[in-house]
Amino acid sequence: MTDSTTLPEIFQGRIDSEEKIEPRDWMPDAYRKTLIRQISQHAHSEIVGQLPEGNWITRAPSLRRKAILLAKVQDEAGHGLYLYSAAETLGISREQMLEQLHSGKAKYSSIFNYPTLTWADIGAIGWLVDSAAIINQIPLCRCSYGPYARAMVRICKEESFHQRQGYELLMTLCQGSEEQKAMAQDAINRWWWPSVMMFGPGDANSTHSAQSMQWKIKRNSNDELRQKFVDQAVPQAEYLGLTLPDPDLKWNEARGHYDFGEIDWDEFYQVVGGNGPCNHERISARIKAHEDGAWVREAALAYADKQRQRARKAAA
Ligand code: 3HC
Repeated sequence: MTDSTTLPEIFQGRIDSEEKIEPRDWMPDAYRKTLIRQISQHAHSEIVGQLPEGNWITRAPSLRRKAILLAKVQDEAGHGLYLYSAAETLGISREQMLEQLHSGKAKYSSIFNYPTLTWADIGAIGWLVDSAAIINQIPLCRCSYGPYARAMVRICKEESFHQRQGYELLMTLCQGSEEQKAMAQDAINRWWWPSVMMFGPGDANSTHSAQSMQWKIKRNSNDELRQKFVDQAVPQAEYLGLTLPDPDLKWNEARGHYDFGEIDWDEFYQVVGGNGPCNHERISARIKAHEDGAWVREAALAYADKQRQRARKAAA
């Protein structure tokens, strides 16, 4: 390294040699900005993602399924708090992030803007959405930003439970009555394409991928991960005896992957743009929860302030 090496060159050299960037390290403003964008939106996705499943906690068909769903929804809350804390290490406050979510400035994953119409949807979310989440999140355990990578290691361990419980739920339905199997098929019909879209725009239309991959925030492109998801899901659907709603799904020996049909990008951008089936309901629910919880925040802050005053008095 010569004296003329610039800070950005030193930074990229650290990234290229697989060093972890920590909160107090020098980093380009754009690196900080894109991490705040991605990590805060990831956290929002976890928190908003509790709503579709939370809708079925009081209606789970057995105490066992209720306990499993409760545990999963609670895990997602923890994932959100982990990720908000990782984002805070970059200099944004929790209040700022929540204001961005509530005002519509910040995004969260499109997948959570669809309704959960039957119990089978809880299985479809566990199997498909959490499979997609695992495929998308495992590479993030190797993200160049230390706090994000470390948060993802813990989160990914819990995601595998989420995916297994969803698949088991669908297995139970598919081995049940004709009506139960039909309910599972209906849920897959509705959740398959939104899950395929979850990986983001096609690579040609991804605004951040190239830079995020150069900074090793992202290790794989959106389409690479999408393809991995499809290749994994097809045999799992066959095992359940369910049909994925894509007539173009076909094994391509030459590619070593499944070919699949055209994605409805109009639908994707409508949902991302706030015009999905449940966008308004989701944000209203989050704003109400935040307002209803104001007294808890005030009490906790007042208690912490009291403790600080006591400690100062004792030290005087
Ligand atoms: N829903 C909403 N917005 C999306 C999206 C989706 N499914 N996919 C992409 N976008 C947005 C991006 O945020 C970006 O908009 P912005 O500039 O306003 O942030 C724009 O579309 C262009 O997309 P890019 O591909 O250029 O953006 P990224 O490089 O950030 O890639 C991503 C998108 C793959 C979602 C990436 O941000 C990522 O990996 N995020 C972390 C993982 C995550 O957030 N997963 C979401 C689900 S969390 C979950 O499933 C929890 C589980 O427990 C259920």
